[in-house]
Order: sequence, then C-alpha cells, then structure tokens
Amino acid sequence: MTATSDRDRALSDDAAVGTPLLDVRDLVIGYGRTQVLKQLSLVVQPGEAIAVLGANGAGKSTLMATIAGLMTPWSGSVSFAGQDLAGMPADERAGLGLVLAPEGRGIFTSLSIEENLKIGGTALKRRFGAAEAKRHLAEGLERVYGMFDVLGRRRTNMGGELSGGQQQMLAIGRALIAQPRLLLLDEPCLGLAPKVGNDVYDVLHRLREEGQSLVVVEESSRRALEFVDRACILKLGEKVLEDRASAMQGDDILLEAYFGIEQAETKIETATERSETR
Ligand SMILES: Nc1ncnc2c1ncn2[C@@H]1O[C@H](COP(=O)(O)OP(=O)(O)OP(=O)(O)O)[C@@H](O)[C@H]1O
Ligand SMILES: [Mg+2]
Repeated sequence: MTATSDRDRALSDDAAVGTPLLDVRDLVIGYGRTQVLKQLSLVVQPGEAIAVLGANGAGKSTLMATIAGLMTPWSGSVSFAGQDLAGMPADERAGLGLVLAPEGRGIFTSLSIEENLKIGGTALKRRFGAAEAKRHLAEGLERVYGMFDVLGRRRTNMGGELSGGQQQMLAIGRALIAQPRLLLLDEPCLGLAPKVGNDVYDVLHRLREEGQSLVVVEESSRRALEFVDRACILKLGEKVLEDRASAMQGDDILLEAYFGIEQAETKIETATERSETR
C-alpha cells in the first residue's frame, strides 16, 4: 500500500509533462581512435527500470560512464529530466540525481564504512545547500543502515574489511545517500556468489517498490529480466534488441542466438561458486 503510493508519488514528481528522465541520443564514443558506441540511443521514463544486457566488451560500462559524465562523447547527447548535460562533470550530474554505482564498486578500502557513505553526501550539498544537505545526509545514513544492517553494525570498520557482497551493498548505499532520481548500477553482482547476488537483487526489488527509477547493467539476463520493465541488448556498441522484459524473458532461443547469454550466466555461476568454496 505505502509502496504503491510512494511509487506513484515518485512517478508524478518526475513526470515533468512526459519528459523522459533519461534521454540518450545517437551516442558515439570510444577510446583513442577506437570507436565503442555506435549511435546508441536509450530512453528511460520516470519510474522505469531498464536492463542493459550484453556480452563482455559490448560497451555497457562505457555507456554508463558516459551517461554519468566520466567520459565525454564524440557526438550525440545525454539529457536528464529535459536538461542537456553536455560538458557537465560527473559530480554535478550526481547533484542532479543521476548517480552511478560503478562496476567494481569503487569503494575506498582504507576509509570507514561511514566515511565511504558520506562521499555520496557531496552530491546533496549541490542539490540542497550545506545546511539542508546535513539533514539529508543524516536521514540517508539511517535509511542505509536500516536497509543494510551489517553496514550499520560495522560502520566504523574499514571498507576493505568487508566481504565482496558487503562492499557491493556499500556501493549501493553510497549511491542511495545521493538520493538518485535515476540510479545506474553497473554489474552489481559481478564476482559475487549466487546467493549473495540474490541478496543484492532483494535490495533492488525493495528499491523498486519504493519507486526508484534505475538502469541495471548485466552480462547475464535471467535475473535482470525478471526484475526490470524493459531491456536492451548491446552487441559491439550497438543496440541489437529492445523490448519489454516480459517479452524477452520467454525467448531463450532469441537471447542465445545473440550472445549465448544463458550459457555465460551458467559459466559465471560456476566460477563464483568455485570462489565461494575457496
Ligand atoms: N580504458 C580503456 N581503454 C581502451 N579500451 C577500452 C577501455 N575500457 C574499455 N575498452 C574497450 O571498449 C570496449 C567496451 O568496453 P566496456 O568496458 O564498455 O564493455 P562492457 O560491456 O562493460 O564489458 P564487460 O562485460 O567486460 O564489463 C571493449 O572492447 C574494451 O576492450
Ligand atoms: Mg562492464
């Protein structure tokens, strides 16, 4: 009941006369002279959850980094809630509520959990001003500690003392502190044991119930497709398929034809199970 009304509220907050929350148009970018993304477009509507799927090297992280402002596109545009973000650095984008939880988590192993979380609070200063930001930060910390009780219990521990799964929770927690209007998650389960990956998805489900708009990047498809509204598949920097997740879900043959995604998923599970039993 509250989940539905929270979600409705989030929808109406962001539904500025039908403007997409994220509007990526004809993005071209690469490294050195090597082009990676080829005229890539992607729209996320307020309240939506989207999966970006694709094999190793397809350009998923490059897309996320470009949206977050960590890379400058060669051409094309990224707009957020109707505002063209050209030339805007990542910290300002986070201040608008466009927040990336990067691949590899990017947490600081020699800072405490609470210090790591407070880094997410720098975006709040831009958004609310210093005094208000303090209040939002305090509320955010309580919310994150409520959501991930292990982080609350170990708030003075160093980031490096956490397990892989706990570090991922910390990365998500830090992104949440910034109060994302759109949360970008780049392979949140990478390198985690399947059970721990399921715990991460439990958290993502909770966020969805609260109305969180998000884009989740995954190499494997099954769990993501069960979770999102819509998905697209990247292959060598191009979008080769985009559909409602429910339509793609049943189409294993189609997914396998593109990438052997399900096979990749099995490989990852086997590898993480192995690392879990080390
Ligand atoms: N820093 C870099 N310098 C040069 N080339 C890079 C760099 N980062 C990525 N690439 C190349 O760009 C292409 C896309 O990489 P990207 O990391 O975006 O793919 P991805 O879909 O996220 O892959 P993965 O599933 O491995 O995370 C790949 O060919 C990769 O080798
Ligand atoms: Mg990647």
